[in-house]
Amino acid sequence: MTEDLVILGSGGLAQEYAWLVEEINDDRRRFNLLGFLDDNAERVGREYIGYPVLGALDTAARYPRAGFISGVGDPRARRLTVEKVAGFNPRWVSLVSPTVRLHSSHAIGHGVMIGRYADLTVGCRLGDHVMLNIHSVLGHAVEVGDFSVVSPNVTVNGEASIGRLCYIGANAFVRNVRVGDGATVGAGSVVTRDVPPDCVVAGVPARVLHEGKPGHVLTRVPDEEV
Ligand SMILES: CC(C)(COP(=O)(O)OP(=O)(O)OC[C@H]1O[C@@H](n2cnc3c(N)ncnc32)[C@H](O)[C@@H]1OP(=O)(O)O)[C@@H](O)C(=O)NCCC(=O)NCCS
Repeated sequence: MTEDLVILGSGGLAQEYAWLVEEINDDRRRFNLLGFLDDNAERVGREYIGYPVLGALDTAARYPRAGFISGVGDPRARRLTVEKVAGFNPRWVSLVSPTVRLHSSHAIGHGVMIGRYADLTVGCRLGDHVMLNIHSVLGHAVEVGDFSVVSPNVTVNGEASIGRLCYIGANAFVRNVRVGDGATVGAGSVVTRDVPPDCVVAGVPARVLHEGKPGHVLTRVPDEEV
């Protein structure tokens, strides 16, 4: 039996989530993807990669039997989408690529996305609404807090800890350090020391670029695309 699914957001990443749903269904038909919900009125009624934007987030109650997942890339905006529909008591669904092998020692929250060829070793703990994008690698006992986003090709050393609402840019390497809540790690960085909360670090080795800038992700896409 298939279950209805609705994706929050309709930008590029949400569309990638829709593609992941197709990939999961190719393996074993699990989901009937109804479409996206998005608060950008200009997107409502349009179709993206073949799926409609059904309405704004506050129409979530129209789909009482559906599972939900947020496909928004900015961790804070992702949390906002989750908070906006929380009143409807949604059932959060996780999407895990069939290419991923998960060991029984992992603890994985709800609303989590794990993309193609991501590789988790053993004993990892992922909070709620976490995203591990394609080809990311987590060593043993890595922790990733709620709403955090791990971009493609990131490698996280065993026993590293990534806080809540963090954004780890593509191709970064994070040694066995602690990345504070709300921190951003620049693309291609090598993080060799603990990262304070709400900081932006970048470079090899990573140095602080900005302090006190929570959610400074700067993927340079317009708001409606996040
Ligand atoms: C780290 C980041 C958030 C900084 O953005 P920003 O604050 O706008 O930074 P700027 O572009 O103004 O650059 C500030 C300085 O940092 C340097 N810098 C920026 N990003 C860097 C990075 N990833 N590594 C090394 N240096 C970097 C710039 O060269 C610049 O140096 P300068 O002052 O000597 O000229 C951003 O560059 C980044 O890496 N975002 C992640 C993107 C990503 O991985 N997306 C994944 C899509 S799947």
